[in-house]
Amino acid sequence: MRTLKVALLGCGVVGTEVARIMTTHAADLAARIGAPVELAGVAVRRANRPRPGIPDHLVTTDAAELVKRGDIDVVVEVIGGIEPARSLILSAFDHGASVVSANKALLAEDGAALHGAAAKAGVDLYYEAAVAGAIPLIRPLRESLAGDKVNRVLGIVNGTTNFILDKMDSTGAGYSEALEEATALGYAEADPTADVEGFDAAAKAAILAGIAFHTRVTAEDVFREGITEVTAADIASAKAMNSVVKLLAICERSASADGTESVTARVHPAMIPLTHPLANVRGAYNAVFVEADAAGQLMFYGPGAGGAPTASAVLGDLVAVCRNKLGDATGPGESAYAQLTVNPMDDVVTRYHVSLDVADKAGVLAQVATVFAEHGVSIDTVRQQGREGDASLVVVTHRATDAALSATVSELRTLDNVRGVASIMRVEGE
Ligand code: HSE
Repeated sequence: MRTLKVALLGCGVVGTEVARIMTTHAADLAARIGAPVELAGVAVRRANRPRPGIPDHLVTTDAAELVKRGDIDVVVEVIGGIEPARSLILSAFDHGASVVSANKALLAEDGAALHGAAAKAGVDLYYEAAVAGAIPLIRPLRESLAGDKVNRVLGIVNGTTNFILDKMDSTGAGYSEALEEATALGYAEADPTADVEGFDAAAKAAILAGIAFHTRVTAEDVFREGITEVTAADIASAKAMNSVVKLLAICERSASADGTESVTARVHPAMIPLTHPLANVRGAYNAVFVEADAAGQLMFYGPGAGGAPTASAVLGDLVAVCRNKLGDATGPGESAYAQLTVNPMDDVVTRYHVSLDVADKAGVLAQVATVFAEHGVSIDTVRQQGREGDASLVVVTHRATDAALSATVSELRTLDNVRGVASIMRVEGE
């Protein structure tokens, strides 16, 4: 019986778990695939570290040589980042290997080229682990929903920021204090930029939008705003509205008056009502809500990060591509036939929570309301609280374009009676 050979690129938290599961579940994996899978090489950055369970002779620091060996059936790439991962994956394709990757940044930047190279080589590129860790999401969107029409993907796809916002919500802590705790507990990395500024979620949003809408979407197409400006006051204001603040990835299809369809993809903090299923996603968990024409509303929930959960997704892909190899077939590749236009944030239509510091005197409320009206932004509710000499004014709008809201806020900033725009937050999920 043929043995399928696997090269593992990267042996950090995820790679270690992939190797461990490949060893401990070897018999089951062989039975499910129809042939044994053998770990044929492990590329690492530093050779002299203890790697329990991985025989020394498999370890190499020369990843480029490993993928070029010619006898490798599947390359598992869990090193992350753009280079050398991209060159290694392209070289793996050139040498006839299928690739399983967890690399969201690379797929969001260069997915089309990678898919093209895989198709040209007649091999697979699978990446379930790139979005939301263990949660099956890529395959349901790409395969289970292939006969349906997905209209919206709304999700919490970054565990670090969900942990921070949840901590702020449950304890009243400010952003910095909650980040400190996330770092101490190992949820946030020493440099948390990719998570807290929304880069990680934006890459995932690009991947999800591309698959959901059969359209090429890159990270650059995704509007991105992180959580660093979210304040304890925002969280308290959300509570007052029976809502909670979450960092959301939102991918939407919309149609213009003449029926022309387009899409948007965005990542930003937003208030969602406590009654929305995403409001109850606590700690570092992820969840993604998918709305499709025929299926209706679907919710996917689970651990979005961590060694074992991410390895679970990698192993699922490994089984799939090994089965394809044995059957001399390939699975679904890129589907971008729809080529829908990806619209800018200005065109997004949603609701807004605008918090202003204003002078507390006659006519100010009317003046503020007039500015909203002049830009076609209809007000839903207004909450005012007087302080010494000034007042806090919270305006929640009906649906309006981001462009109209931005123009409104720009003009509000010019008013003498508006002493400051304390925060603007989008309101979603209603
Ligand atoms: N850093 C990510 C998170 C996990 O916090 O969810 C990997 O994408």
